[in-house]
Amino acid sequence: MVEIDKELLRDMLSRYQGRGSDLIPLLLEVQAQFSYLPEEAIQLIADFLDMPEGEIYSVSSFYSQFRLTPVGRQLVAVCRGTACHVRGASRILGEISEEIGVAEGETSDDMEYTLESVACIGCCALAPCIKVNNDVHGEMTAQKVEELFAAPVN
Ligand code: FES
Repeated sequence: MVEIDKELLRDMLSRYQGRGSDLIPLLLEVQAQFSYLPEEAIQLIADFLDMPEGEIYSVSSFYSQFRLTPVGRQLVAVCRGTACHVRGASRILGEISEEIGVAEGETSDDMEYTLESVACIGCCALAPCIKVNNDVHGEMTAQKVEELFAAPVN
C-alpha cells in the first residue's frame, strides 16, 4: 500500500465544515494531491463527514474522473477522440503498450507507468495525440513512441 501523509489530509479537512456538500470538493482536492483516492483518505473523509464509507465509494465510482487505485509516476493518456481515432490512435496505443509493457487501464509493477485511453484532449489538429502527465505530444508515430518510451540503454 502507498504511504500517504495523514497530516496533510487532516490539514485539508480542517478547511471544510464537515457538511455533505463538502464531499465532492474534498474528493477532488484529495485526488489532485495524491493522483487517486487512497483508502485512508476515504476513511478520514467518512469520519469527518459522518458518512458511511460505502457511500463515498459509490460516489467516487459514479464519477469517472475519480480513481481508486494509485497511478504510475508517468500517466500516459492516449486520446481516443474521433480525430485521433481516424488517424491511428489504436495503433499508437498498441505501440505504447508494447514499448512500456503495460496494458490499457493498467499500471506497471514498478509504478512507473499507467496507460489509459481518454476522450478528446483538445488538440485535434495534432491528431493522433497523447498526454504524458501534463505534456501533450501530437502527430504521434511509431518512431515518436519509441523516442518517448524506449528504455534507456545502460
Ligand atoms: S480527438 Fe484527439 S485531441 Fe481531439
